[in-house]
Amino acid sequence: MIKANELREKFIQFFKEKGHAVIPSASVIPENDPTVLFTTAGMHPLVPYLLGAHHPEGTRLTDVQKCIRTGDIDEVGDASHLTFFEMLGNWSLGDYFKKEMIAWSWEFLTDEKWLGLDKEHLAFSVFAGDETAPRDEESYGYWREMGVPEDRLFFLPRENNWWGPAGITGPCGPDTEMFIIRDVPPCGPNCSPACDCGRYLEIWNDVFMQYNKQADGSFLPLAQKNVDTGMGLERTIGVLQNVSSVYETDLFLPIIGEIETLSGKKYGEDEAVTRAMRIVADHIRSATFILGDERGVTPSNVDQGYVLRRLIRRAVRFGMSIDMPAGSIGKIAQVIVREYKHVYPELGEKEAFIVEQLTLEENRFAATITQGLKEFEKVVTHIQGTVLPGKTAFRLYDTFGYPLEMTIELAKERGFTVDIDGYNEAFKKHQEKSRAGSEQRFKGGLADSSEQTAHLHTATHLLLAGLKKVLSPDIIQKGSNITAERLRFDFNFPRKVTREELDQVEDFVNEAINAGVDVTMEEMPLEEARKSGATGTFSSRYGERVKVYTIGNYSKEICGGPHATNTAQLEGFKIKKEESSSAGVRRIKAVIGPEYKK
Ligand code: ALA
Repeated sequence: MIKANELREKFIQFFKEKGHAVIPSASVIPENDPTVLFTTAGMHPLVPYLLGAHHPEGTRLTDVQKCIRTGDIDEVGDASHLTFFEMLGNWSLGDYFKKEMIAWSWEFLTDEKWLGLDKEHLAFSVFAGDETAPRDEESYGYWREMGVPEDRLFFLPRENNWWGPAGITGPCGPDTEMFIIRDVPPCGPNCSPACDCGRYLEIWNDVFMQYNKQADGSFLPLAQKNVDTGMGLERTIGVLQNVSSVYETDLFLPIIGEIETLSGKKYGEDEAVTRAMRIVADHIRSATFILGDERGVTPSNVDQGYVLRRLIRRAVRFGMSIDMPAGSIGKIAQVIVREYKHVYPELGEKEAFIVEQLTLEENRFAATITQGLKEFEKVVTHIQGTVLPGKTAFRLYDTFGYPLEMTIELAKERGFTVDIDGYNEAFKKHQEKSRAGSEQRFKGGLADSSEQTAHLHTATHLLLAGLKKVLSPDIIQKGSNITAERLRFDFNFPRKVTREELDQVEDFVNEAINAGVDVTMEEMPLEEARKSGATGTFSSRYGERVKVYTIGNYSKEICGGPHATNTAQLEGFKIKKEESSSAGVRRIKAVIGPEYKK
């Protein structure tokens, strides 16, 4: 039986043999895309290259990307939903297109040397066509050439066979999807991969990215035709190992085993226990990858930190429901680190930090639960009648982490019932809001913000150069985050930076802006870049060839871009805030624009 490690290796090896450069997984926290909180697909960090920028490793790339999707967090616990997953992918950046990709997909899936899947149990879908793009007869024809019979090829509409963009705007296109046919009879004469009867399980998606969706909803053809593929590791290995849920694959068994040991319960002993164990395993795995990421964040009440907090608290809560003792989640994280660090060494390097942060958050949550109990007592003394309003139950859930079941139990002890419909309504409202929030952070989308983001990114390079000059040459970047409005930059420094020092840094950046120097980019081997004195961003992992951005004599940094083309585009620069971020790390928030011209 094929193991997850083997699938990762085979996929990468296959595409290496087809002339692809292997690139490292990017961070789960997007570097220059303020429109989303997390990296949701392998193509995400590659958007600039799909749009035409030159990638230093060439036009054929492959990788395994760490991805987080939390839109369906409440569904986790069933057989297939996960908040973290790994995506195996390969890309053509204006290189090969449909013909090669379909032949390779077929070879990888069916050849004995690779997955050796039974050809009779494979089905494929292609785009049926609409007013935006034609019916994909071409892909259909290539599948036929591979010997796929007509009754296992399906033309499906846009809602099934179109992928992207990842945000509101950007690269997208028709796709062809690959399915394993399971031992489930067709649900009717129209049974197809579009229905969810369970007969067809998707394992791979080849997207033919040849359009760029605009903010006004129109689609412009891209100058280059790209291929973007994605194979979900967990789901595919589940199919290959013929198990009924992703949690029974070799990726999860050691994690579930640890949860069994800690809780003294058995996976599968009853539905509630199974669900709780899956939630704990999934959420702690995601939390471990977020904390252990090279751009990792800590639990907080905003952005990625908030999602992390929710994941940890949900895990603790469901852990409590199966009698997991306090301190368990750190132990589960250790198993996860042990299982994954050969693929993601950053987890091994940050193991102590991961365990410490999980434990701290667990303790904070325990304190909140006690507070919630006080709140509950207060609320019930003020209630008229015997029904606890749904909104109140939801507030206990949202603010104090009280699960509905716990509130119902407490209420019952005091002779109250809970308005469950009201609770569900409040819950739904909140869910809609947070879904919009996690998948998409402001309306404009990447295209509207991309120029501003690029300019802020250039400002970040100048800021680092200024800090090195004014404070110390030992200053290094500890983190960076850009939204459409501002940049945020973390760096090592042992004390508060004085206003005079900040003024000097601001002057340095504004001088560079007023000088109107061009921002230039060169590609070179990593070694050469380091020798040339280029600064590297904190602990990011680089490929063998990198881009180096030079801003006159002001700054030289290894970086993926994109950037302003000339510093004059920034117009002016101002530091709005300087504060402590964590021990020995300071944080600056700064803005650019004509109103800050000096
Ligand atoms: N980007 C495509 C996906 O996520 C491959 O399915």
